[in-house]
Amino acid sequence: MRVLVVGSGGREHALAWSLSRSASVDEMHAAPGNPGIAALAYCHPVRAEDHAALVSLALELRTDLVVIGPEAPLVAGLADELRHRGVAVFGPSAAAARIEGSKSFAKEVLEAAGVPTAGTFPVARPPCVVKVDGLAAGKGVWVCRTQAELDAGLRAAQALGQPFHVEELLEGPELSLFALAAAESAVAFPPARDYKRIGDGDTGPNTGGMGSFSPLPDVADDDAQEILETVHLPVLRELAGRGAPFHGLLYAGLMRTEDGLRVIEFNCRFGDPETQSLLPRLDGDLVPLLAGDLSQKLDVAERAAVTVVLAGAGYPERSDKGTPIDGVAEAEATGALVLHAGTALHDGRLVTNGGRILNVVGVGATVVEARSAAYDAAAHIDFAGMQFRTDIAARG
Ligand code: AMP
Ligand code: GLY
Repeated sequence: MRVLVVGSGGREHALAWSLSRSASVDEMHAAPGNPGIAALAYCHPVRAEDHAALVSLALELRTDLVVIGPEAPLVAGLADELRHRGVAVFGPSAAAARIEGSKSFAKEVLEAAGVPTAGTFPVARPPCVVKVDGLAAGKGVWVCRTQAELDAGLRAAQALGQPFHVEELLEGPELSLFALAAAESAVAFPPARDYKRIGDGDTGPNTGGMGSFSPLPDVADDDAQEILETVHLPVLRELAGRGAPFHGLLYAGLMRTEDGLRVIEFNCRFGDPETQSLLPRLDGDLVPLLAGDLSQKLDVAERAAVTVVLAGAGYPERSDKGTPIDGVAEAEATGALVLHAGTALHDGRLVTNGGRILNVVGVGATVVEARSAAYDAAAHIDFAGMQFRTDIAARG
């Protein structure tokens, strides 16, 4: 098979790494890819937003399967455009991707499907959460415990110029549960955990995610099936019933509250950086499942994986470009997987090019071993302004 991966981050590097190990894949391409993906695939300088050029590229390459990584092209209808031209795609239609693209649509679907989520408040009063309706790259949510935080959250939401709503503030540990979905059937990944805040101890602003791990100490791999049946499947049936069947990855962001499991959000694609800790736990071939054959379950190994994100100076407020990066080869020599998230090559030199720069993934028999493997490898990497959390999977 000839596969084209769309995107340029750590999630796409993890997908390309997993696909490169598949017996079904003979040739891999990426658009635009990154310097890490370039070791595994032919990278084409076509941006994920340029749908016309992506459709042309997929047709020209006679691609057997296009795997779309990020949410923005899915919400904007890239999968529809490719399918319309007869190209097989992993990723939902725009109509189904609204589950991520519009928080009000997601709330409506959850209510209709009878899946518990945070209640919506007609009047803003702390404690509460202010959320903008559309895509905001993880930056459209303000958790407000005090009136001052609420005033700031409302101001920030208004400044984005999008509709927003105010909802109940839920408390408890979070988990991410991914499911490969084809209309009304689905196959669950094991649960994973993501670290959203920039600082150790979950302090500071929200980010795209500073690390992840799997398996979890508090939600067993075997619990995934029950969550799938109570959360994902009702939502998939509701979407199919509305004429928007979901084909692709349905990601539930969940919180374990004192009153039970609540949905925080749905995403229409693989999560970043949870994917980096989930794919190394799989044996077997992911490609038939991505191609829509859900007749088999995932082959999940007992081993653990921990991902530590190395972010650039100024993240999450700004991205960093052109700072030289040292030590990647030394980190890889420890046996860890070093995935590129925001890198570029300048005259053959690896440099920063984004907010989250590299993802160091350690694999081991236990979370404790995987965690040491990740941090031991990360210790070899250095660039000016590098930031990372030291407590990823610390309580694993
Ligand atoms: P979202 O973009 O909806 O995933 O929200 C980003 C993060 O904000 C989540 O991972 C949670 O940590 C937090 N969050 C969102 N909604 C709520 C809520 N209703 N209660 C508590 N925390 C929330
Ligand atoms: N890990 C959070 C996300 O992908 O949205």
